[in-house]
Amino acid sequence: MRKKIVAGNWKMNNDLAETEALLQELKKQVIPEQVSVFVAPAYTNLQHAFESLRDHPIAVAAQNMHQSDHGAFTGEVSAAMLTSVGVKTVILGHSERRAYFAEDNALLAEKVNTALQHEMTVIFCIGETLQERKEGNYFEVVTKQLEESVFHISEKDWPHIVLAYEPVWAIGTGETASPQQAQEMHEKIRSIVASTYTESIADSVSILYGGSVKPENATEIFGQPDVDGGLIGGASLNAQSFMEIVNAFV
Ligand code: 13P
Repeated sequence: MRKKIVAGNWKMNNDLAETEALLQELKKQVIPEQVSVFVAPAYTNLQHAFESLRDHPIAVAAQNMHQSDHGAFTGEVSAAMLTSVGVKTVILGHSERRAYFAEDNALLAEKVNTALQHEMTVIFCIGETLQERKEGNYFEVVTKQLEESVFHISEKDWPHIVLAYEPVWAIGTGETASPQQAQEMHEKIRSIVASTYTESIADSVSILYGGSVKPENATEIFGQPDVDGGLIGGASLNAQSFMEIVNAFV
């Protein structure tokens, strides 16, 4: 059985007080045993979130990290810094990092390597833009992202990888991929993992969908056979809507 995962990417939202307030709300909720739940607050609040969630099943993820272990990289944060405050999971390759911070596939491959060297779990994001969707080459785009950033890793590293299909046109737009579009892409991703590695790795890797997931559409999207959960932006900033999404599996 593949792991069911729901991760809240808080992006650049919530200062310390707001982070604590949202965590307090979330901590009142019962997390279903079969779902792994993550929240990804801003760097400044990661340590606080980790301490606050110490005896709670919700885990903490970072939204990004630098590929180097240390050095003169003003403003950056390393894998060792994250693990030193208890954070063992990192989101890499988010389309906002690709679009606004010029992160390309080669750089992301380095980040993946660094995270794995530090025994972190990577939630690796892939997805096409609206133009690429319209041009009809979305399978090629996603395949290339995987080939150039992830498919160099060894078989033994796959238990530390979660994939997240996030079509750029569905992020923060209120427009969601239809359950059929999500399933079609997730099935494709799983099939290329199988042909590049093994059936058993493809069967085991969790593939999340992200892009305007809301309580109203989560059940249908998560009901698709190759969708193993979600990476949630806007709806993760409210405890009730996030928990409704977490409970969409139940
Ligand atoms: P929204 O849920 O706000 O569309 O964001 C999705 C996302 O980018 C999660 O990483």
